[in-house]
Amino acid sequence: MAAPDFDTIVNLAKKRGFVFQSSEIYGGLRSAYDYGPLGVALLRNVKSAWWRSMVRLRDDVEGLDSAIIQSPRVWEASGHVEQFNDPLVECTHCHARHRFDRLENADRCPKCGTAGTFTEARDFNLMFKTHMGPVAGDTNQVYLRPETAQGIFTNFENVRRVARRKLPFGIAQLGKSFRNEITPGQFVFRTREFEQMEMEYFTHPDEADQWFQHWVEERHNWYLELGMSPDNLRLRRHDEDELAHYAVATFDVEYRFPWGWDELEGIANRTDFDLRSHAEASGKDLRYFDQAAGDRFYPYVIEPAAGVARTAFAFLIDAYHEETVRDAPRTVLRLDKSLAPIKVAVLPLSKKPALIEDTEQVAARLRPHWEVQVDVTQAIGRRYRRQDEIGTPYCVTVDFDTLDDRSVTVRERDTMTQDRVEIGRLLDYLTDRL
Ligand code: GAP
Repeated sequence: MAAPDFDTIVNLAKKRGFVFQSSEIYGGLRSAYDYGPLGVALLRNVKSAWWRSMVRLRDDVEGLDSAIIQSPRVWEASGHVEQFNDPLVECTHCHARHRFDRLENADRCPKCGTAGTFTEARDFNLMFKTHMGPVAGDTNQVYLRPETAQGIFTNFENVRRVARRKLPFGIAQLGKSFRNEITPGQFVFRTREFEQMEMEYFTHPDEADQWFQHWVEERHNWYLELGMSPDNLRLRRHDEDELAHYAVATFDVEYRFPWGWDELEGIANRTDFDLRSHAEASGKDLRYFDQAAGDRFYPYVIEPAAGVARTAFAFLIDAYHEETVRDAPRTVLRLDKSLAPIKVAVLPLSKKPALIEDTEQVAARLRPHWEVQVDVTQAIGRRYRRQDEIGTPYCVTVDFDTLDDRSVTVRERDTMTQDRVEIGRLLDYLTDRL
């Protein structure tokens, strides 16, 4: 199926309460979004799938949750104060500001259409600044972190020591980052406040290339294992002139978004840039001591770094299908079951008290295990469609026969096949499938 157009997905996300505009009642704040009941469940599932694969299923990765506000010296040492800039131009005609390297036409303002009106490009630093404490001054200026990675580097020695780790090992972190993007846009794809999923993998310099290959493959496979279509996913190596100031090699995992191929995640070989910079700036020895070889050195770092909302958005797009079933249109999100916000819907065929009572009992039995939704309004066909549209893998219908045979009908989302299952066996039936 051709990719759904951008507006179709955005409308579904808004209509079904995945995403709301931030501060909507005040007219909305551009480039920030709030996540509604289904959105928060989808984001949580994306993060859990990432944590499961990056931390829980591995014996060489530890978790961390470092602070958003860190010493400003962190950002001086990391190079962000000097180099975390994008080129900014302003149109002298309409005063719109643009990111110069993203303009389709370097001479014409995309807002007012006037040519030859851009100012000289100047470096614009993307870090948000604020002040720590009650007095705002130069001495207490701090930054909101623009990436979670630096909190990992500054805690490298703490984690290595308490976890008694030898190389190679990784430290993973999920959390908010902030960038004052010049041109946020494409819905939740590029925002000024966002969540990242990052892992820094520390290795001997001689093994860095091998681990780089490993992580590029691992991360590519993660999306495929969660059901993303291989046709919509690709790896792209950065050209020399695209590389960030800390990287010697980077691959992007790219998704075919409605506007074209764009970045989901970057996997970079950051060399020893970070640990060496923080050691030099802090005066702390952050080298690793290899007892067997009697050797002391700065580990190299391989970093897979992804965005949570961007990933969730790509999964939504990829899962979206429109089809015709018995001459009626059906919209279905074929999300991997682990990502689906609601796993089971329990639907009484009518609002008769006896059916409602059984519905509530069935739902109560399932709730400790999965996200369950009970829906009692409108015809059963409409309710199935509503669940299909949000990707619920199983609908359990309580009907009049249930009162006699103590069984329910379980309908599967993708094939729409139905099984009659005894209520007493329902938990096992669903456990086998979810
Ligand atoms: N520590 C490395 C790093 O931060 P990055 O490529 O700048 O690398 C990693 O960011 C990922 O974070 C990106 O691939 C993207 O998924 C996400 N990301 C970056 N900026 C974002 C933004 N403004 N809005 C949403 N997601 C963003």
